[in-house]
Amino acid sequence: MSASHRRVVIADDEPSLRKVISSLLRREGYEVLEARDGEEALSLLSSEVAVLISDLRMPKLDGMQLFRRAIAEYPDLKVILFTAYGRITESVEAVKLGAFDFVEKGTDNEHILQAVRKAVASYELDQRAPRRPVGLIPPQLGRYGLVGTAPALQKVFSLIDKVADTPSTVLIIGESGTGKELVARALHEHSGRKNESFIRINCAAIPRTLMESELFGYDKGAFTGAVSAKPGRFELADRGTLFLDEIGELAVEMQVKLLRVLQESEFERVGGIRTLRVDVRVIAATNRDLVKEAAAGNFREELYYRLNVVPIQLPPLRERVADIPLLVSHFLTRFNERLRKSVSGLTDEAMAALLRYPFPGNIRELENVIERTVLLAEGPVIEARDLPPNVAQLSSAPPPPPLRSQALPLGSSSRPLATSLKDIVRQETERVEREMIQRALSDTQGNVTQAAKQLGISRKSLQIKMKELKLREGD
Ligand SMILES: Nc1ncnc2c1ncn2[C@@H]1O[C@H](COP(=O)(O)OP(=O)(O)OP(=O)(O)O)[C@@H](O)[C@H]1O
Ligand SMILES: [Mg+2]
Repeated sequence: MSASHRRVVIADDEPSLRKVISSLLRREGYEVLEARDGEEALSLLSSEVAVLISDLRMPKLDGMQLFRRAIAEYPDLKVILFTAYGRITESVEAVKLGAFDFVEKGTDNEHILQAVRKAVASYELDQRAPRRPVGLIPPQLGRYGLVGTAPALQKVFSLIDKVADTPSTVLIIGESGTGKELVARALHEHSGRKNESFIRINCAAIPRTLMESELFGYDKGAFTGAVSAKPGRFELADRGTLFLDEIGELAVEMQVKLLRVLQESEFERVGGIRTLRVDVRVIAATNRDLVKEAAAGNFREELYYRLNVVPIQLPPLRERVADIPLLVSHFLTRFNERLRKSVSGLTDEAMAALLRYPFPGNIRELENVIERTVLLAEGPVIEARDLPPNVAQLSSAPPPPPLRSQALPLGSSSRPLATSLKDIVRQETERVEREMIQRALSDTQGNVTQAAKQLGISRKSLQIKMKELKLREGD
């Protein structure tokens, strides 16, 4: 836990007692805030405060009142009450009502320290546990088998929503390893064609001379060796989806033939005389800039326009660094299962290295890194030195400024297990909740009641969430 989780507020009207205890706690590494009375204590509380130590008898707001208001507002707060001789029953009552513990005045320092340590540990445990859902805000951590919450990816999701179940041609553009094939399959799976074939052809892998017969098939005797007829991919994809992968690699003369099929939905097999009609939904993908290729004469402009009816642009991983922890979590789970391992997380340093590495091979490269690392990992936690040297190398540099404001607690401590799967999911959930709440608030000009309605949660829940996420005015 970061130091902020060790913040303690001590409320007592007796300065000397305050001093003694606060210096005791500071020596232990806690951040201590002092309050002279109940009201001041209340003003010092925030969701960052782990423990409140309070005297029972104080001016303004007494200890019992303070305790009740404090935990109503900060349910995770641990309250320790200082009890004078003769007031134990009151403290026992308070514990029944949710105070964490009480300590008798005049008790020795070690006893006080122990109570605080226990309270902090309990607070930290609460923080690590998956959040009790206050509302019904779903942790939309990805869709269509694509993990991530980056805005560029949200755009991809909403495009898939819109065009999956249409006959429109889709052109998926993105660097190698960004998930183009995943998107193509998602489009097929969410269309009315999902029970028909999804046929992929990799234009980069098929020799030029064979391309035509691969796409359109051939009839018996079409060429030497054509001892029987063979259907092409267009025929195989009839009623289904044809995925033309790496379309930028298609030779120009084939581009012309393809264009005709796309326009007329008919073609002939090589050496065939019959004209065949098919009902095929075409999806193409490329990692090239086809506009440039067209300008250079390598790609037919008409074909480009015919394919580019609905372009879907996939962002490179380096432009959605914030999704790395989620993807790591996703792949850890996958490879733990596949490789029968039980890697539970990464150290801060290891995660920092991954966040810093530019991933030219994008998600595929990250996937390979995690697979290899899980396979070779010796301990339960991945450390920076377990990563491939080219990735880990970058971590020896001084840490850069945080990549994301409410990102993981990175690059700091010697704590071994900072980034567990749970942490990642919790933090991402928090981030998505924050975004959804902010959007709802801006849609409703800050009207909490309306925003709550839009989010489908109660006004009270929204207020609690806003407080937790520090979204209230003035926070
Ligand atoms: N958003 C994502 N969430 C989870 N896994 C992903 C995501 N994007 C890609 N992957 C995984 O990364 C790998 C590469 O994805 P895919 O093959 O779809 O990329 P591509 O763009 O077609 O790459 P290439 O150009 O190299 O063919 C796959 O194993 C895929 O499952
Ligand atoms: Mg691909």
